[in-house]
Amino acid sequence: MKIFAAPLQGYTDNTFIEVHHGVYGAPDAYCMPFTRIEKGQVRRQDAARLHRAAEIMSSTGVEIIPQVIFNSAEEFSTLVHAVKEAGLRRVDLNLGCPFPMQTRRGRGAAMIRALDVMEQVAGLVAADADMAYSVKTRLGLEGGDEWRGLLPILDAMPLEYVAVHPRTAGQMYDGALLLDQFEAFASASAHPVVYNGDIHTREDIAQIESRYPQLAGVMIGRGLLARPSLVGEWKSGSDFSLEERRSLFGRLHAGMLAQYQDILCGDTQILQKIKPLWDYADLGLDRKALKAIRKAVSLAKYTIAVDAAL
Ligand SMILES: Cc1cc2nc3c(=O)[nH]c(=O)nc-3n(C[C@H](O)[C@H](O)[C@H](O)COP(=O)(O)O)c2cc1C
Repeated sequence: MKIFAAPLQGYTDNTFIEVHHGVYGAPDAYCMPFTRIEKGQVRRQDAARLHRAAEIMSSTGVEIIPQVIFNSAEEFSTLVHAVKEAGLRRVDLNLGCPFPMQTRRGRGAAMIRALDVMEQVAGLVAADADMAYSVKTRLGLEGGDEWRGLLPILDAMPLEYVAVHPRTAGQMYDGALLLDQFEAFASASAHPVVYNGDIHTREDIAQIESRYPQLAGVMIGRGLLARPSLVGEWKSGSDFSLEERRSLFGRLHAGMLAQYQDILCGDTQILQKIKPLWDYADLGLDRKALKAIRKAVSLAKYTIAVDAAL
């Protein structure tokens, strides 16, 4: 079973990917947060992000899968063109983002019902032998069985895998996992299926593997932010001690901070990028120390707070 790092906008950027792989070793692939269209085109900084991902891939051998979010065949084509221009040869279709900012504009999970658009996109995918395509989706917008309408279109597309978060868009990222529906999806799909949702421990991975032995893989999002060592622990077959996890996290943090200091200007920008690393971190840290990290408004104060916390 393969292990994928899920895309998390605002968290798993290129810096996270590059430093994480150096400190912990890489999962089978890192999925990039989505690239979107703004004012009819791909923003310059998003194109740069794709180029940098291609550079990281070629210099480290790490597998990175870019993702696109779209509401029409035109948007889809423009985005895939940008991915190709960056020299990347894989692309993931975001058919699952539940945020109203996206779904109200017909993107992300809204695609589960936009079957006419998906038919056109499927035609473009089928005609494009240069790229390897995959899909990341959920079970529906409001109903857990809405995937049934989309499935025949997905089945007819040449896809490497379909990753499924077993919730509806209405549920966002919490609430009951609709595992019966997930199981029905996995049995009915013509493609390899990847499970994604609420994996936090090695036991969680083992449970998914034994419950669904036919799965192609698991994709881990928040669990990998909480415990960035999780994939390494899974591969090694044992849990790392809290001390080791804190020390590795210290290296992850230091590596990311150094990169942000290189590429960004000013304390505010740097702190804005690095602070989210602490949002999900599960290292048994002192709450006061975490509060000091969150409240720090200068790099000097921030660094003192981090030293005190770790
Ligand atoms: C803050 C945040 C940002 C996310 N950004 C993306 C994204 O860019 N593309 C995507 O397909 N999913 C995105 N997701 C969804 C995650 O990839 C994943 O499907 C979800 O968190 C459930 O998996 P988990 O329980 O392992 O975290 C995001 C989720 C969160 C919480």
